[in-house]
Amino acid sequence: MPKITIHDLLKKKKEHEKITMITAYDYPFAKIVDEAGIDGIIVGDSVGMVVQGLENTLPVTMDEMIYHTKIVARAVQNSMVIGDLPFMSYQASVEEAIRNAGRFLKEAGATAVKIEGSSEVAEHIRAMTRSDIPVMAHIGLTPQSIHRMGGYKLQGKTEESAKRLIEEAHIAEDAGAFSLLLEAIPMGLAKKITEAISIPTIGIGAGPYCDGQVLVLHDVIGLFERFLPKFAKRYVNLKDEALKAIKIYKEEVEKGIFPSEGHSFK
Ligand code: KIV
Repeated sequence: MPKITIHDLLKKKKEHEKITMITAYDYPFAKIVDEAGIDGIIVGDSVGMVVQGLENTLPVTMDEMIYHTKIVARAVQNSMVIGDLPFMSYQASVEEAIRNAGRFLKEAGATAVKIEGSSEVAEHIRAMTRSDIPVMAHIGLTPQSIHRMGGYKLQGKTEESAKRLIEEAHIAEDAGAFSLLLEAIPMGLAKKITEAISIPTIGIGAGPYCDGQVLVLHDVIGLFERFLPKFAKRYVNLKDEALKAIKIYKEEVEKGIFPSEGHSFK
């Protein structure tokens, strides 16, 4: 099967076929995600929280994102790899946005980038798209705005803010975004947005009516313990499995059971 392209995602929307995405940050998990047949891997700046143990995503650097995207892209045969522009990699200028977004494609092997925002980065999206860098916009709860938003909170609750998010969706589409990520908004609003625009919407905490879904991998597999958002679903608890295995290893070493002769050289 060839690599998924932005045209495949558009086709899926037109044919009412659901799009599947998940985050990944390293080679072994990217390989598993790819083998599972997931359409797109977002190498999210959530790496800061779920891998680096940071309080929020703000300290994540461009070089760290390139490192993670590179090792994800190396593992992948079919899934589309989308690099997430971290805080302060695009806000200062359109030129900086193009250069950093370009690094994801040129150095890391990504197919596209994701940027938080819409109207405030419409010029950036336009310029990146003009430079042949496919862009996914991201509205609703945008974690890089944590301090302005006052926490990770549901967005678009009032009539006025819902209307604004519909406008933001149109702005992202008009600017040339190939897709729009909707985070933590009411499902009715996500449905309206999905029906109003022709590019695919990918929801996380935006209900079932989006064209596709994305979740943070470490929430799905039980490797992030600090909190589980209401919208996330844990399908397996790998932390417990890993803990069990490592405790058995420790015990076997302490009791002289491991290594056995079978694990040794003659
Ligand atoms: O950083 C991240 O993981 C995200 C997800 C919502 C895809 O932005």
